[in-house]
Amino acid sequence: MRLPVLELDKITFYYGDRMVLDQVSLTVFSGDFLGIVGPNGSGKSTLLKIIAGLLKPAEGSMRFFGARRENSRRETRIGYVAQNVTSFNQGFPATVGETVLAGLTASLGLLRRPGRREKRLVDETLASVGLADLQKRLIGELSGGQQQRVFIARALVAAPALLLLDEPTVGVDVDAKERFYELLTALRQERGLTLLMVSHDVGVVAEQVQSIACLNKKLFFHGSPAQFWTEDALCQAYGSAIRLLHHGDH
Ligand SMILES: Nc1ncnc2c1ncn2[C@@H]1O[C@H](COP(=O)(O)OP(=O)(O)OP(=O)(O)O)[C@@H](O)[C@H]1O
Ligand SMILES: [Mg+2]
Repeated sequence: MRLPVLELDKITFYYGDRMVLDQVSLTVFSGDFLGIVGPNGSGKSTLLKIIAGLLKPAEGSMRFFGARRENSRRETRIGYVAQNVTSFNQGFPATVGETVLAGLTASLGLLRRPGRREKRLVDETLASVGLADLQKRLIGELSGGQQQRVFIARALVAAPALLLLDEPTVGVDVDAKERFYELLTALRQERGLTLLMVSHDVGVVAEQVQSIACLNKKLFFHGSPAQFWTEDALCQAYGSAIRLLHHGDH
């Protein structure tokens, strides 16, 4: 039986007095690859930040591996790659290796210096994303797609069970996109990683993922890609019909 990695129960979130998430309930099982789609401003990034523990919902509860968030060591079990992560780092004076090593600081603590074990983990992680040769290069000298991989490596180095990716393929060319999805497939197979990815690329996402969630403040749909097309979930979430899929229907 597959275990639930993540259970969101009626998550509601406000920025100031503006509600951007309305009672979102969602369960993600171990080994799943879930794609989250929805129009601009529909709350996708906000939802990911809540799952990553960076924002606190006004209402609702969240469980990881069956435990409430407060009681689980989420730092080491959840990896998070933010939207536009690469655009802030063009002039950042760090090497690829240093950036990935920073992903271990949570488990390492601030006072301990990295030892041989940490360096080996960085080597292995860079190799797994196909960047073994670039370890000594400065981040700013890499292409957008390569930088994207560095930040995925930084999230992976602490061996998370759940990886959150916010629009990871924006600005990446078709070839690199294909390689990127191959990398995700390999990571799922080798590490048993559970993946949650936000994307606007609905057609591509539907081909890649095992299940799709359609968000626009509320959760309009959660099901298989096949159901997604037949139920016309896209139109609903993007604004025409208002038929909601109630929790428990899927
Ligand atoms: N820090 C913030 N303070 C106030 N409002 C915010 C903040 N961040 C986002 N919002 C608003 O909350 C809503 C949801 O934003 P969010 O970034 O979650 O959307 P999104 O679905 O990720 O959009 P996109 O597809 O454009 O990335 C938007 O209306 C946005 O303007
Ligand atoms: Mg976003």
